[in-house]
Amino acid sequence: MNKRIVICAALSLLVCCSMAQQPGGKKEKREKPAGKQGGGGGNRGAYPPPAQGWKVATIILGCPEKDRITMSIYPADDLEGYIEYGGKQTAVQPFPAKTPTQLTLTGLSADTETTYRLRYRNPGESEFKTGPDYNFHTWRAPGSPFVFEIQGDSHPERMGKQNDPVLYEQTLLAVAKDRPDFFLCIGDDFSVDTLQDVNAATVRQAYLKQRPYFGLFAHSTPLFLVNGNHEQASRANLDGTADNVAVWAQNSRNSLFPQPAPDSFYSGDKEEVEHIGLLRDYYAWTWGDALFVTIDPYWHSEQAVDNKFGGGDKRRDLWDITLGAAQYQWLKKTLEESTAKYKFVFAHHVNGTGRGGIENAGLYEWGGKGRGGQSEFKTKRPGWELPIHQLMAKNKVTIFFQGHDHIFVRQKLDGVIYQTLPEPGDSNYALYNADAYQSGEKFPNSGRVRVSVDPEKVQVEYVASRLPKDSTAEHPDGEIIFKYDISSQ
Ligand SMILES: [Fe+2]
Ligand SMILES: [Fe+2]
Repeated sequence: MNKRIVICAALSLLVCCSMAQQPGGKKEKREKPAGKQGGGGGNRGAYPPPAQGWKVATIILGCPEKDRITMSIYPADDLEGYIEYGGKQTAVQPFPAKTPTQLTLTGLSADTETTYRLRYRNPGESEFKTGPDYNFHTWRAPGSPFVFEIQGDSHPERMGKQNDPVLYEQTLLAVAKDRPDFFLCIGDDFSVDTLQDVNAATVRQAYLKQRPYFGLFAHSTPLFLVNGNHEQASRANLDGTADNVAVWAQNSRNSLFPQPAPDSFYSGDKEEVEHIGLLRDYYAWTWGDALFVTIDPYWHSEQAVDNKFGGGDKRRDLWDITLGAAQYQWLKKTLEESTAKYKFVFAHHVNGTGRGGIENAGLYEWGGKGRGGQSEFKTKRPGWELPIHQLMAKNKVTIFFQGHDHIFVRQKLDGVIYQTLPEPGDSNYALYNADAYQSGEKFPNSGRVRVSVDPEKVQVEYVASRLPKDSTAEHPDGEIIFKYDISSQ
């Protein structure tokens, strides 16, 4: 175990996830208050595409099941074609330029590796060309070992501060090399609240710029998204029209990245929201020996959970932050009914806001106490059995994963590991928000977390990402900075 901690000068920046709010409403030119840029400075669309990746089209896999998988194909030019897979093929269809076309491969076998390729031609051509061979794995049966990976807040809008596109690409290419069964993002990957102009097109652009990056690995590793505060995809932003940031954000997300809706394989949010439809914001599934549960306060709180879109003071009564009754009861049922050996829960942050891990786990809906330490859960959440942390502890959740704080920290409370995630492409290798964590192993950026699941144990590794100029023989790119095992017993 390498316990080297590089505390960079960037510590002094202590860029908070939630600063740099600009006033202004929808479709308005936004003024930038002096001195409020912090780490939230927008890049005005200047974020470059990755150097690598297939230039003909990006393919993003999502929603893997026992017998099917969904893919989104986004070509640079007009194409027509089909997918060849496992001795089958889809019907020939158009794939319009710069437009996501979603299709589902069916008739797959469970717990099986499948190779596929795009056969395509440009308009007027007679011969189909053959794209690269890509692969995926369908649902793992209990007892079947597998690996998944996860990244913390990628924040491409903080280019040069918390995101170096070259290092970010390097991290995602390393994911592609590992080819885990799937990959999760914990939120703050599609920030829109620092855009100069906020409208349907610029919000969509925030999602589009991640596509070629996720396309580096997601052709062979399905992608699952968790909502962060900077997405501004939240109930508090709805205004009854189709013309607001929450609608633009969620529709961009769901049209460009296939995400689970409730069916026979996934459970999740059944509520339809006007101008969006199914949110696909919280969902759960079982894979091998593990249960996966993503949860989201942003779409279920009437008030802004963290930073308000357009600026203004943050909420101070954190009892206003909630999963809502439907999501809470679903979470409870999902955890209670699961017989999986391991249970993983994912959210952007404890209570969706604040700093720290287990330091906040006793508070509000998460832990039941008010800021003064008094127990208020029974009066604030009548009819709810337990706060979220106690519910996780009672149901033996193995790891709760969170982001938002831009630091790797491993903590444990009542048998539940609280794993906070580092940023994937911060070439300042900063250690943010360390003071908020009074315990646990803390390590600075950058990298990703790899989780290997087998019947005997779960192994968690923090895999470093370092630019060539910052790599040494002792501390190379790809170094395992910290790892731990959790026994199934
Ligand atoms: Fe963040
Ligand atoms: Fe955040």
